[in-house]
Amino acid sequence: MERILSGIKPTGQLTLGNYIGALKNFKAFQEQGECFIFIADLHALTLPIEPETLRTNSRDIAAFYLAAGLDPNKCNIFLQSHVSAHAELNAIMQNYLYMGELSRMTQFKDKSQKLNKEKIGLGLFAYPVLMASDIVLYDATIVPVGDDQIQHVELTRDLVKRFNNRYGDILIMPKAVVTKVGARIMSLSDPTKKMSKSDPKGDIFLKDDINVMRKKIMSAVTDSEAIVKFDRENKPGISNLLTIYASLKGISIEDAEKEFEGANYGTFKRAVADAVIAEIEPFQKRYFEYLNSGYVDEVLEKGAKRAREISNATLKRVHDAVGLL
Ligand code: TYM
Repeated sequence: MERILSGIKPTGQLTLGNYIGALKNFKAFQEQGECFIFIADLHALTLPIEPETLRTNSRDIAAFYLAAGLDPNKCNIFLQSHVSAHAELNAIMQNYLYMGELSRMTQFKDKSQKLNKEKIGLGLFAYPVLMASDIVLYDATIVPVGDDQIQHVELTRDLVKRFNNRYGDILIMPKAVVTKVGARIMSLSDPTKKMSKSDPKGDIFLKDDINVMRKKIMSAVTDSEAIVKFDRENKPGISNLLTIYASLKGISIEDAEKEFEGANYGTFKRAVADAVIAEIEPFQKRYFEYLNSGYVDEVLEKGAKRAREISNATLKRVHDAVGLL
């Protein structure tokens, strides 16, 4: 049986990129094995964040998970900080990943570039160690993520190999699984850049008003060719909109292209906006219902209980392996 694990970091507001690349795909995995889907709140501290924002975002993600169809009876939903094994395993695993490899991580390079060199937190640099700990703690075999997290899962695989070579078969080898269409949704205002929570220009936020979403899509940057065709290099804007459309409709890019043969960009954008709204409007409604129900705290408590059971067993295995009494 598979073990599925993934998480979302409660930094800025969740985007349509997070939805298409990760959130919307989690539900299907519930049927494949036991699922652990958590809120990576310790990871959110790697960049400055207001305490109140962190609290709000964390609850939001829990409600988003439920609104996306995660069933607490099949899937354990919990907060990373409620399960101390994450921090404890992190303290051990930091000795088995190297500064050289951590400094080559694209996400670290991107994020640290924007900071004063003297003030880059150690946590931002060591981020992949905690993420690797998150994954191996649950003996995860499948890690559903968007494109930008593949490198971190690959590093986790290197860690597993290194650790098991030294101590025997202690950790389970995970595998990143990305969605066929939509693993990298780009910004609507600059389609050469990833749509990102920490770079809100050109983002569609999952909490945006429906009319705002429509406006953002209608004014998305395109090109002057007036042909709806997938070509990432020369037509990044149109390719991104095609990707959004195809992923939400559950069709291939080729089928989406066929649907808009001969259509002008106005018609095409309207269809993309309709598809986004048809999906997100009911999702938002469910989200608000969960958020206001008090059910979220109950779900998080139950999830943490099961998460502690599984993760403490792994932690014990690791303690024994390395010689901690
Ligand atoms: P985070 O919070 O940045 O993003 C959550 C998920 O959304 C995906 N994603 C995207 N997919 C498509 N297009 C985009 N523009 C886009 N932007 C984000 C991400 O790939 C991710 O799957 N480090 C993780 C959180 C984490 C984690 C883990 C994930 C912590 N521990 C263990 C898996 C397993 C992160 O910051 O994701």
